[in-house]
This record gives sequence, structure tokens and C-alpha cells, in this order.
Amino acid sequence: MIITIANNKGGVGKSTLAVHLAAWLTEQGHTVTLADCDTQQSSSVWIREAMPKVETVVLSSPSEILNELPVLAREADFVVADGPGSNTETSRALLLRADFAIVPCKASMLEVRALAQATQVLREARDIRGGRPDAVIVLNMVGKNYRLTKDMKDAAVSLQLPLAQTHMILRQIYADAPGQAAVAWQLGSRAREAADEVNQLFREILPQAYRQQGRSKRTVTAAS
Ligand SMILES: Nc1ncnc2c1ncn2[C@@H]1O[C@H](COP(=O)(O)OP(=O)(O)OP(=O)(O)O)[C@@H](O)[C@H]1O
Ligand SMILES: [Mg+2]
Repeated sequence: MIITIANNKGGVGKSTLAVHLAAWLTEQGHTVTLADCDTQQSSSVWIREAMPKVETVVLSSPSEILNELPVLAREADFVVADGPGSNTETSRALLLRADFAIVPCKASMLEVRALAQATQVLREARDIRGGRPDAVIVLNMVGKNYRLTKDMKDAAVSLQLPLAQTHMILRQIYADAPGQAAVAWQLGSRAREAADEVNQLFREILPQAYRQQGRSKRTVTAAS
């Protein structure tokens, strides 16, 4: 399965989500490749330090993405592709190949309004591909006392994209994690809330990837 983290806006949490998703999937017992499609290469450097079990590959052009993603998807259970902040052609290539797109969005009305533009390429890909890839909006950097306003819910509905019920709270630990060569839940006791939140988010949006702790993939298959 190819999962891309897509939003043509910069700094919304794509790399943070990509690295935590790749690490979470690995901990569920899956084989994972992180395809870093951003010239800054921040997520591949980060995941190599935080979780060396994850394979990494840098794909630096739209044609490389179109050609290589299906090959990588045959070799791993999941390919997580981190996209760039603004290159439309790179995003288009990713969305033409992805099975699932996660669209992080900062939790403010201005950012949600800008989503129509930032998800234009996603809508084009879904139009061409008969509704694929499936996609979900994930609100990120949400203030602790924040309440989702009706305006914001309406904006998501008008884009015909579901909004994940679990949000990622604005937490210093997410910002600290890359500097510590870690994912948030590797950072000791102060990481517990972030760990629970990330686990809940990924279980919600990728229920088929969740494995109960202590049960290997083989056990699950044999028992089901
Ligand atoms: N939930 C959060 N709480 C606090 N800081 C966060 C959170 N999510 C992301 N950040 C921080 O916000 C900044 C932008 O995040 P990130 O680099 O993941 O975004 P991006 O969409 O990949 O950016 P770019 O478009 O430049 O690639 C980073 O400094 C990151 O550590
Ligand atoms: Mg990034």
C-alpha cells in the first residue's frame, strides 16, 4: 500500500506525520519504506536515525516517483511517501500512484480555507482515477483548548474529504523529536500523551494496519 502525505502548503506537518507513520507501521510488524520526495530530505535523515529498520529511498523527480513507487510497493508492506511543500508536479506524481493520501492541515480557519487550493491536485488525481486515492484530513498543531468550529467542519465537508476525529495537538515534543534523532514516543515519560495520540490517530485512519501488541502478523493471520 502506498500512502502519501500531501498538502501543497509548507510547514503543516507532512514530514512529522510521515516519519511517525513509518515508525508506527514498523512497530505494528510491517515492512516499511519511506520514500522521501522532498529535496530537503528531512524525513529520510530523521527516520534513519530514529528507526533504522525502515528502508529509505530518495525520489527526486516526478518521473522517478511514477516509475519507482510501484516497484517499492511490491517489496514492502507499506510505502510512506513524504511530499514537498510546494512542487505541484511532484505532488501530482505522488497522488497518481498513491492508494491513500493523508492531508495534514494546521488548525486555523485561514489554513482550512486555503485547503481548497492546497488540495487542488488531489481533486484532479481523484477525478482522473475514479475517486482514488482515498484521503483524509488530519488537523495538526491543535491548541490544547481548541474546539473545532462549525465553520471548519463545513469547510472540510465542502471539500468532500473526511476529517479524522483524532487531532495532533501542538506539543513541544514533536518539534524536539528530530533534534533528538527520535520519534515522539521514544522520548521517555513526557512522551506518553503524544504516543497515545499518534497511536489513536493511525488506528483510526488505518485500522487494517493495526496489530494488537504481542501478536505477530502470522498469529493474526492464523487466528482470523
Ligand atoms: N503537532 C506539532 N506540535 C508542535 N510542533 C509541530 C507539530 N507538527 C509539526 N511541528 C513542527 O512544525 C514544523 C513544520 O513541520 P514539518 O517539517 O513536519 O512540516 P512539513 O509540512 O513537512 O514542512 P515542509 O513543507 O517544509 O516540508 C517543524 O518544526 C515541526 O517540528
Ligand atoms: Mg517536510
